[in-house]
Amino acid sequence: MYDKLLLVIAILLILPPAFAQDNRVKVEMPPMMRAHMLSNMRDHLLALEQITRALANREYDAAAEIAEQRLGMSSMDDHGAAHMGKVMPIEMGKIGTRMHQAASRFAIVARDAEIEGGLNAAFSALSDVMQQCVACHAGYKIH
Ligand code: HEC
Repeated sequence: MYDKLLLVIAILLILPPAFAQDNRVKVEMPPMMRAHMLSNMRDHLLALEQITRALANREYDAAAEIAEQRLGMSSMDDHGAAHMGKVMPIEMGKIGTRMHQAASRFAIVARDAEIEGGLNAAFSALSDVMQQCVACHAGYKIH
């Protein structure tokens, strides 16, 4: 009976686990750029956390401000988007642009929510931003 158990374990160890499959395209860039991009990414996540917190407190203007300055079109210069765009595959750059656009749209929706009291619309617009994070992470890696 242990033989069968050992056989099953052996097969499980040999089979390549589906979750470990990595079909992401690897994007090469100079180490300094990579470090810069990853540091921006960590700030993106921090910004999302702060935006959700602001929404939970119904501080719509604060949510809008964080989104526009840290993720929106206004953040593109700080992120060196023009330089980054050159080392990325075109489609990856497009996802990045869509994320900046979605964040600026979120900022507008959040400011409207202040007047209309609509958390639903704000969260829906925030989800549109996160969709772009997910899309890019599913397709690309840099290390
Ligand atoms: C245009 C592509 C793109 C977009 C858009 C994007 N990311 Fe990333 N992100 C990446 C890549 C590529 C990596 C590195 C993944 C790897 O090499 O394994 C990464 C890594 C990260 C990391 C890990 C940072 C580290 O220090 O290792 C975090 C956190 C992160 N992203 C958050 C976000 C959040 C939050 C958003 C959306 C608001 C976002 N990213 C949008 C491409 C993107």
